[in-house]
Amino acid sequence: MDARLSASLLAGLVVLLHGFTAWAVVEVNMEDRVEVFKGETAQITCMYTSDDGIGALTIQWFYVSRTGEKQKIYYQDATRQEVDRGTQFTDRITVNVTAATREVVLTITDVQLKDQLEFICLVKSLTDGVSEGRTNLLVFERPDFPTIEDVQTGIYVNKDTLSKIGSCEVKNGFPKPNITWYQNNMPLGGPSDVVKIVHSTTMESSGLFSVRSELSLKVMKEDKDTQFYCEVTYLVPGGTRMTETNPINITVYYPSTAVHVWVESPKGKIKEGDTIMFHCYGNGNTPSSVYVIRHEETEYGLDSNMLVLENVTRLQSGDYECMSTDMETYEELSGNTTVFVNYLDPAVVLPVDMEMAQGEELTATCNALSSLQTHTAWFKDGREVSVGHTLTVKDATFDTAGTYKCVVTVPEIDGMERMETLRVNVKGAPEIRKPEDTDIKASLADTVNLTCYVRGFPTPSVIWTTPDGKVLETTSQTETEDSVDSVMSVEVTSDLTAFCNASNVYGADAVTFNIKAVVYTTAAATTTTTTSTSTSTSTSTSTSTSTSTSTTRTSILSPSTVQAGTAIPPKKIRKEGRGVIIAVIIICLLLLAILGSVLYFLYKKGKICGRSGKQDFTKDKSSKDNIVVEMKSDNTEEAVLLGVNGEKLPPSNQ
Ligand SMILES: *[C@@H]1O[C@H](CO)[C@@H](O)[C@H](O)[C@H]1NC(C)=O
Ligand SMILES: *[C@@H]1O[C@H](CO)[C@@H](O)[C@H](O)[C@H]1NC(C)=O
Ligand SMILES: *[C@@H]1O[C@H](CO)[C@@H](O)[C@H](O)[C@H]1NC(C)=O
Ligand SMILES: *[C@@H]1O[C@H](CO)[C@@H](O)[C@H](O)[C@H]1NC(C)=O
Repeated sequence: MDARLSASLLAGLVVLLHGFTAWAVVEVNMEDRVEVFKGETAQITCMYTSDDGIGALTIQWFYVSRTGEKQKIYYQDATRQEVDRGTQFTDRITVNVTAATREVVLTITDVQLKDQLEFICLVKSLTDGVSEGRTNLLVFERPDFPTIEDVQTGIYVNKDTLSKIGSCEVKNGFPKPNITWYQNNMPLGGPSDVVKIVHSTTMESSGLFSVRSELSLKVMKEDKDTQFYCEVTYLVPGGTRMTETNPINITVYYPSTAVHVWVESPKGKIKEGDTIMFHCYGNGNTPSSVYVIRHEETEYGLDSNMLVLENVTRLQSGDYECMSTDMETYEELSGNTTVFVNYLDPAVVLPVDMEMAQGEELTATCNALSSLQTHTAWFKDGREVSVGHTLTVKDATFDTAGTYKCVVTVPEIDGMERMETLRVNVKGAPEIRKPEDTDIKASLADTVNLTCYVRGFPTPSVIWTTPDGKVLETTSQTETEDSVDSVMSVEVTSDLTAFCNASNVYGADAVTFNIKAVVYTTAAATTTTTTSTSTSTSTSTSTSTSTSTSTTRTSILSPSTVQAGTAIPPKKIRKEGRGVIIAVIIICLLLLAILGSVLYFLYKKGKICGRSGKQDFTKDKSSKDNIVVEMKSDNTEEAVLLGVNGEKLPPSNQ
């Protein structure tokens, strides 16, 4: 290669390079985009390089209209700065040039949606040429909070078409927000034959966008518990934001694949008379299903899946089939359950009622037919007397008689019970229960009740009589089938003997009551007494003593009963013992005196020649036959025996 050529080429390249640098001296740098919220202030910066001073530069701002034309909005040179009249920016822009940093800043206040345009900054130098830069202004508006709506009706599964699930809407966003559907936190994807999402965008008169999205699904049973919501994404200066709607759930109706019927109550065994409640449910939830329960020839409609049968009998035992018919699909399903109604028939006691003789054996049976094991027990007078079907009582007595109750129960079921009674009569002659006391002491004018309780079957007849056959009137009488309780009230006017005579076809029985009339001094003694002090000796002697201070002459009475009807002076019973001794002494003296008198009389007459008698009575030359007993009332114990002629006889002489 020629060295000269090489040198000249290099020199030419250097000249060319120098020349190029000198030609393109003005340079403009701008950002691609400036992002700002609607209504705020945007600043678009234009950086330039130039060797020339600011005075040598012309600065212009343009925007690119939607039709693609450049539209000037600002002009500046050394002599003037001018905002173009009649543009959308006329009143809202200012331009600041900082020569030191070579920055030109276009400030737009109250940015509008229509301001989203491309801006051009053009810088022209007198010597260095011209250059321009471009920046896109992007305007944003946050959308309103999104809303979601669900379908109000339940959704049937297994439909051929897709079912609408709900719709979301987000309003007044800029640029256009996006809506994404979620099911249980999983985004619902793109088009398929089971999911369909339809978006529709509306531009409002304000220029903002509203987006609506509708979700349709092929609903399956699994969807019944899932939740759906929408996510809205939208742009803001320098980023992306998102919000979510509330979740919605859907009512999914799915048909039953099986039907179940069961007895809800009673739990456990069922007995006649119970109320049975059936429940019948399908495992689906379609509201269109109709249920009926069939038992043999009977068909029952169900009321909210329930059937109540009251007062059931054994005839209602058997299979119960519950049928469900889906009125949408006319599909029929059924389920069944078996019921057994337990029973306990009335108890039958054999023999029905019975009469038996004393000493015989009582045998009776009690049976009640039941579907379950039974327990039988016999009761008499509230006491359990036997367990089991058979009642046996050996050697019947009147105590055997009475009413037996046979109670049959089913231990497995509470309240299952039957009862029957058996009346047993034991034939026999009357038996009078021995009264407590048959010898009764009663005050005069008192009323004495004589009671006579007789057992016997057939029912004895009872009469009250006196020994002379007079019938006394019965005061009250209580009769049962095999007993008589008879009361005879009598007013005591004198001693009285009364018979209670009871008799029936098998014999008779009698009891004797003796009422003794007594007189008491004290007020307390006027009540009827039945004391058994020895009033039985009818030969008792009453020695009465006056309580008065005066001495009373008392005639000595021969042993006899004091008649109750005669007036008797008050007496002191405690003196009785001594009185008897005194009386005996007096009687002895009397007899002695009489004997003496008789002997004396005979001696005088001379009919009796007894020297000894003569000698015996020589002393007793009494002129009187009278013997007087004197008793001092105030000192009866020292009663003095007065001899003939008033001579005092020492007691030792007696
Ligand atoms: C909305 O979706 C479109 C398409 O998928 C996407 O290009 C756009 O960036 C999305 N906008 C936002 C704000 O996410
Ligand atoms: C479905 O939504 C209703 C109210 O919208 C709510 O009461 C119910 O609990 C929800 N069910 C489920 C399974 O989330
Ligand atoms: C005797 O019986 C009558 C009537 O039954 C009754 O009013 C009266 O109280 C009884 N008297 C005695 C002492 O029990
Ligand atoms: C009542 O019983 C008594 C004593 O057994 C008897 O003497 C009397 O005759 C009986 N009277 C009648 C009416 O049966």
